[in-house]
Amino acid sequence: MATGATPAPAIFVLFGATGDLARRMVLPAFYTLAEQGLLPEDWRLIGSGRGEVSQQDFVHSVRQSLQDFGPPVKSRSWSRFRKRLRFAAGDFVRGGHGSLLEEISDARRDLGPAAQLIHYLAIPPQAFIDITRSLAEHGLTEGARVVYEKPFGTSRESFRQLDRAVHRVLEESQVYRIDHFLGKEATQDLHVLRFANEVFAAMWSREHVRAVQIDCPETLGVADRADFYDHTGAVLDMLVTHLFQVAAEVAMEPPASLEAADLQAARESIIGRFRPIDPAEVVRGQFEGYRDLDGIARNSRTETFVAARLWVDTPRWRGVPFLLRTGKRLHQTHQSVSLILRDPPGPLTALPRPGNVLRFSLDGSGAIELRMVAKAPGVGLNLEATSASVAVSSIDSTPPLPPYVRLIHDVLSGDRSLVTRPDGLAHVWKVAEGLLSATGRPKPYPPGSWGPAAAAKLAAPDGWLLGQ
Ligand code: BG6
Repeated sequence: MATGATPAPAIFVLFGATGDLARRMVLPAFYTLAEQGLLPEDWRLIGSGRGEVSQQDFVHSVRQSLQDFGPPVKSRSWSRFRKRLRFAAGDFVRGGHGSLLEEISDARRDLGPAAQLIHYLAIPPQAFIDITRSLAEHGLTEGARVVYEKPFGTSRESFRQLDRAVHRVLEESQVYRIDHFLGKEATQDLHVLRFANEVFAAMWSREHVRAVQIDCPETLGVADRADFYDHTGAVLDMLVTHLFQVAAEVAMEPPASLEAADLQAARESIIGRFRPIDPAEVVRGQFEGYRDLDGIARNSRTETFVAARLWVDTPRWRGVPFLLRTGKRLHQTHQSVSLILRDPPGPLTALPRPGNVLRFSLDGSGAIELRMVAKAPGVGLNLEATSASVAVSSIDSTPPLPPYVRLIHDVLSGDRSLVTRPDGLAHVWKVAEGLLSATGRPKPYPPGSWGPAAAAKLAAPDGWLLGQ
């Protein structure tokens, strides 16, 4: 687990530094780390990009991204921060590598030869292989850490190619494949709560849990990234990436310890026990009006909604459905993981349903909620479902860390507990084969609804707890 120790000096090379991901997530997270004193004493951030961007333009665009997506910027810390920003313009893969090499060697001269080199690939996954090769060609892989965003491959074959290309030039210990859902505070509580409290440890199996729901509806549309989304769809964007990793967090066997290697092994190896998804247990949808958006093919069959039943073939979970759902332009936005408990054998009957549920809310800074059945006050025996909730932000005075802040800190300090592993990802494609080969027309659903009606049946008898 992360120790919170201040990492060694670092040279952080941000590929795609003026792109959407860098502006929304990476740069604000980096600034938050600086604000919280979690960066190394000495560091340099070198943005790399193809555009003709001057040093001054880059500093300005970082400032703008903090204003748009970051924490409030304090002028004293900003003036310290901006001094360490550099920009290396040029197409790194196609002959334009000179300025980046120069910036890196300047940074090495200033920070010392022991400075940790980190390459963060905030670029479309199609460019991962070329950049990885070019890093090696220019001698930039030795001792470096390389960060890959999800999706790491978009099919079994593209995953294999990427994995081979990466391992040709990097040791596994240098590779940081990140999935920001694993960096969420409440996701980490899935294992911490379970292993720290006997009440939860004891109930974490098929004997006590009737169903698990991992439900991430979003009201958000895709208009501002139509092209990316139309080539990706909900299955790749969310289901086989974020939702599978969260399912693995719930389903894993207890690791020997919560040290990085043990935790990572427990989480990633359980994906090998996910049963290939049966296409009959999947509902794909597309919101009405999607094909009219700019940048979307008029005959697009990309799904903007998916719900699926997943089975985990281990003695602990045999027969317990893991119900996964996500989609765009739905009725509400939530990120919710619920363990629905079985009814006790008696003597009470006709309990309100679903009565006893342990729910983790992954949105925002996260919350843990226990829903239970209790006696309503009064002379009669009236049963009511009620709940108690703990916001992660109320646990301690330390503010919860946004997921990218946590994950970038892990990369800087070499903590691999929350990164994904190639064995886990290799299984993802086997499990998802039936899903990915579904090319039929997705079922239309009205924006603002809960998706196609057929999805409700998948979650019977409880139904989707958030709504349907
Ligand atoms: C991203 C997906 O990885 O996660 C988006 O590409 C999705 O489509 C987002 O909206 C949700 O995560 P969060 O935590 O940023 O709300």
